[in-house]
Amino acid sequence: MADQNQGQSVIYLDHAATSWPKPPAVMEAVIQAMINDAANPGRGSHAMAVRASRVLFDTRKQLSRLFNIKNPNDIAFASNTTMALNMAIKGWLKPGDHVIATSVEHNSVRRPLYYLEQKIGIQVTYIEADERGNIKLEDVKASIRPQTTLLIVNHSSNLLGTILPIADIADIASKHGIKLLVDAAQSAGVLPIDVKGMGIHMLAFPGHKGLLGPQGTGGLYIDPELELEPLLHGGTGSQSEALEQPHVRPDRYEAGTQNTPGLAGLRMGVQHVLNEGIQNIHTKEWALTQRLMEGLLPVEGIRLLGPEPGEQRTGIVAFHVEGIDPSELSFILDQHYNIAVRAGFHCTPLAHACAGTSATGAVRASVGIYTTEAEVDALAEAIKEIALQYRA
Ligand SMILES: Cc1ncc(COP(=O)(O)O)c(C=O)c1O
Repeated sequence: MADQNQGQSVIYLDHAATSWPKPPAVMEAVIQAMINDAANPGRGSHAMAVRASRVLFDTRKQLSRLFNIKNPNDIAFASNTTMALNMAIKGWLKPGDHVIATSVEHNSVRRPLYYLEQKIGIQVTYIEADERGNIKLEDVKASIRPQTTLLIVNHSSNLLGTILPIADIADIASKHGIKLLVDAAQSAGVLPIDVKGMGIHMLAFPGHKGLLGPQGTGGLYIDPELELEPLLHGGTGSQSEALEQPHVRPDRYEAGTQNTPGLAGLRMGVQHVLNEGIQNIHTKEWALTQRLMEGLLPVEGIRLLGPEPGEQRTGIVAFHVEGIDPSELSFILDQHYNIAVRAGFHCTPLAHACAGTSATGAVRASVGIYTTEAEVDALAEAIKEIALQYRA
């Protein structure tokens, strides 16, 4: 895919961080919103402010279709997954609560949990995933205590690509009256998600990855039965005379001016996903990962992380080549081959510990809807060439 602004062609394999490029309709919608609907949504009753509010509502409706959410107002917008996870974790947990999470969680789960452990005395159990990122359902059951009020699960690991069985985990949670928070950073837009059918109480999702929207977008679905303490307090454009944060949704969880142009773009991103079909996107991305793994396997000293070839995974292939520092490898890919990947620890040291790459880190390649077979082949060829030069 041509990076026209730079006048050169980049092979972009960093979709797990943020998707690029965005569909043309997304970019057009951002510009159109800035031209036509740029007033403050929910503040004022003039025509442009009403149009801005409409943009937000239409985006909520579109997301509701994708995630099978009955009431669009049960979605609160956030600027990214991290904010949505903070809204859920800090909004739900109380002193003395016990939380179960997994060892493939991102720091956006681990750090707020650590903060609350230190600050208000919650307790956390991390279920150990195996080397490929799978957890045992018996371990979930065995970790439950009388004080357990929340289970947090990463739908798909951002290092390993492993897909966790959300519906089975939800079953355990519901039998014990525990709420389930799903981190859909790597699954929204690429795996089917049905909050009702899968028993999800809170779903934190980014707008800027698989949903193809601009950066600065994301959100949290909150089950209508659930009452969270708001993360932010402030103006909502409603009940201005009241000192207390309004209870009406989504205002309760959306203090401050929302990102209307970004959300206009997100609406078109979700539309694009719906038009393509989630299953088609997943199948295409899975096939690309299989091709990439096949291309990488002959490289001397390579270790591929995550599920075995042939098994289910999202569009992520992380690897380590013995004797080559991942950061150096990604630097060479960038500088000499114009291939963008991400090296290091990917904000998930626990998943690296499971994979046995805590000492070295890894290189992560991740594909998206516009990735071609030729692009993943180019990465495999580049790695072969670099490895040969290292061994020479
Ligand atoms: C599993 C997971 N959770 C949370 C995040 C944080 O997402 P964001 O950058 O949207 O805050 C990421 C980012 O890559 C992720 O992969």
